[in-house]
Amino acid sequence: YTAQIDAGDIEKGTYPHFMLKEIDEQPFVIRKIINEYQTNDNELKLDAAIRRAMKASDRIYIIAAGTSYHAGLVGKEFIEKLAAIPVEVHIASEFSYNMPLLSDNPLFVFISQSGETADSRAVLVKIKEMGHPALTITNVPGSTLSREADYTLNLYAGPEIAVASTKAYTAQIAVLAILAVDTAQAKGIELDFDPMQELAIVANAMEILTDQKETIEELTREYLATTRNAFFIGRSTDYHVCMEGSLKLKEISYIQAEGFAGGELKHGTIALIEEDTPVIALATQANVNYSIRSNVQEVVSRGANAMIISMKGLEQDDDALVLPHVHELLTPLVSVVPLQLLAYYAALHRECDVDKPRNLAKSVTVE
Ligand code: G6P
Repeated sequence: YTAQIDAGDIEKGTYPHFMLKEIDEQPFVIRKIINEYQTNDNELKLDAAIRRAMKASDRIYIIAAGTSYHAGLVGKEFIEKLAAIPVEVHIASEFSYNMPLLSDNPLFVFISQSGETADSRAVLVKIKEMGHPALTITNVPGSTLSREADYTLNLYAGPEIAVASTKAYTAQIAVLAILAVDTAQAKGIELDFDPMQELAIVANAMEILTDQKETIEELTREYLATTRNAFFIGRSTDYHVCMEGSLKLKEISYIQAEGFAGGELKHGTIALIEEDTPVIALATQANVNYSIRSNVQEVVSRGANAMIISMKGLEQDDDALVLPHVHELLTPLVSVVPLQLLAYYAALHRECDVDKPRNLAKSVTVE
């Protein structure tokens, strides 16, 4: 008899799953990113060549797949709102076969945890042939996408083992925020937004949420225990986080889930709402707080079992969970945490293989 020692089990420490460990690591990853991207004088520390490439570009094309695509949707908002450069976000596998008209000076930004996704690489090869510059944002600096691009930004998230991506998503969003602010500075745009200070607040808020596991497990029981499907609704930034929340739930619990724009529900999808259909709504944005809540009313009046996750300052009495207040641009970094945990507990209760869900691979190296 020889004792089988699984290296993976040791790295997990006291955690039952890598996914839970990686969810808990997020505040530390954000603090690591703050340190890595800041000089001793509290200035942003980014490669001058990246600054120049961003500044010279008249339109940015973000290319990614899966969770990284969802981070790209949030990144578009940062770059457009802070650095005033138009951004298009494309699913890599679609872009390859149906390329849009490009601007005169495009910059391609590849977002990839692994840096190995074949669909993204196919686009990189094509645009390099066309002579366009490329920046890769990745967790693996020596990876293919990083080596073949002109520039790389590191995510500093540490190895992500669970197939369902968690800490890489939040790291991507944090780095995109820093990139957007750096570009704004390069363009001489005055901002009323200190990314490092705001990210430090985010890290603390994440910690408050990862300490609320019992509450979130309880919510999972109440809303997702026996259901076969679920909806996540939000508007604006919250909509993009809903897409990520629903992907997490699908990936590991096999509950059919959809992230939907609150206002678009009534144009068809609301037909699917019946007695007890779970609807999870995010309300972190002041300008849509009223309208998302009226969308929740619409589904509740059709029998939905709805819960609202709101942000401090926008909360109402019956909200299921109130997130600590963070800067409105950075809400995805905190609102995604309870959605990750909901997916985790839903998978756990269904006795699914949390870290290695069926049919999925951590890194997909075929087109
Ligand atoms: C796979 C993984 C997803 C990931 C996607 C993109 O499908 O299962 O979790 O989001 O690839 O991976 P990347 O490494 O390019 O971010």
